Amino acid sequence: MQMADIGLIGLAVMGENLVMNMESKGFTVAVYNRTLERVKHFVEGRAKDKNIIGTYSIAELVNHLKKPRRVMMMVKAGAAVDNLIEQLLEHLEPGDIIIDGGNSHFPDTMRRCAYVESHGLLYAGVGVSGGEEGALHGPSLMPGGSPAAWPQIKGILQAICAKVSDGSPCCDWVGENGAGHFVKMVHNGIEYGDMQLICEAYQLMRDGLGMSAQEMSNVFAQWNNTELDSYLIEITAEILAYKDTDGAPIVDKILDTAGQKGTGKWTAIAALDEGVPLTLIGESVWARSLSAHKEERIAAAEAFGRQITPVTGDKEQFIECIRQALYASKIISYAQGYALMRSAAKTYGWNLNYGGIALIWRGGCIIRSAFLGKIEEAFHRDADLQNLLLDPYFCGEIKKLVPAWRTVVSTAVNSGIPCPAFAAALSYFDGYTSGRLSANLLQAQRDYFGAHTYERLDAPRGQFFHTNWTGHGGDTSAATYSV
Ligand code: 6PG
Repeated sequence: MQMADIGLIGLAVMGENLVMNMESKGFTVAVYNRTLERVKHFVEGRAKDKNIIGTYSIAELVNHLKKPRRVMMMVKAGAAVDNLIEQLLEHLEPGDIIIDGGNSHFPDTMRRCAYVESHGLLYAGVGVSGGEEGALHGPSLMPGGSPAAWPQIKGILQAICAKVSDGSPCCDWVGENGAGHFVKMVHNGIEYGDMQLICEAYQLMRDGLGMSAQEMSNVFAQWNNTELDSYLIEITAEILAYKDTDGAPIVDKILDTAGQKGTGKWTAIAALDEGVPLTLIGESVWARSLSAHKEERIAAAEAFGRQITPVTGDKEQFIECIRQALYASKIISYAQGYALMRSAAKTYGWNLNYGGIALIWRGGCIIRSAFLGKIEEAFHRDADLQNLLLDPYFCGEIKKLVPAWRTVVSTAVNSGIPCPAFAAALSYFDGYTSGRLSANLLQAQRDYFGAHTYERLDAPRGQFFHTNWTGHGGDTSAATYSV
């Protein structure tokens, strides 16, 4: 009987393409899908005459695997993963490895990892990015889980992943239990942020400058030769140039309501849990939500009859300002995303390699960009960098970009064009770089109505005071704690 190096369950587009990719790298793959017709269709079609074995039950799949057995699940995140794990546990043996390559929520992966380990098996939650093309030709892979699983899956994963120009694989061990899926979740949050920034730049050009889709396509194509060089800018240029059958830009005919599968929302929730400001990604999630309320927006547009004030002045100069605002905001987004990873690493006991994560993201994934090379260099200079903004390179870049950034945000506000991500990024920057904020007043308010106490500028940190603001509040203060 022909034995396979790995088994893969779930023959939707990502699963099928990963199988083709593995096979093309010399691995024999056994495949299974709950709807058996799909297995037949695949083995008689794309997989014909390849080292791909179609199987029609979990037991048959497991029987075809070399030991220790490796089984990768490419199924919808959620209950389907738990069901499949139960079925696999009936057939696998201690030492075998279950791999989840879906977009699972990291707390689920943490739970599953402990559960599978309690049965003597190993578990890996692997973030996979790059869409269907990436899955076929080289995705970016973020594996985490049982550390003992890594040596068993490293060979296959590093063979199929994307490589950067010097040949380094866009796949390395991220950390224990849910670390891989956490990093993939942050990747997706950053993806939401990058996409929203591009959309805001587009709306400023479309509504503020009255530019056509083709003109904007040319601008994005030029930007792709600058610091903004990235996959998302590249596809934006292509999308804007794409014509419908009648020759008109197809983008102008697409309904302006965004969908979302939840990973951006999870990132924002994780940031709230960690107490880390992730304002740009948060605004990107809200912007999608607002866009989804199309009918309500139309009614409000009619009720207010608001007009957009066109942007006047030197057009080319303003386009360059938008580019710089996008670049500055992008730096903030990554600074916030990395700050979230730092905080979560502490909470969950992960030893994350931040430069290594930038390298994993440099190729294959949706947020791949030249910019990530600069982030990798920053963490190379200081592996323990607290915030990307404190790195000398990024600090220098931001200083140069601030004037254009302020011009764009204030122009957008004056014109009535929404730019939640640009503005949130700038507000964060102004807050983060303020030695003195307004929270002294906030503390006074808390103490006034709830005796929550405050610290003083003229007393050591950790010493708390209460004022009897009204003269009849008494001297008893509330317990001092912060979540
Ligand atoms: C990737 C993507 C992918 C994601 C889709 C859809 O890295 O290949 O992040 O995992 O699921 O882009 O995401 P939304 O439907 O939430 O936009």
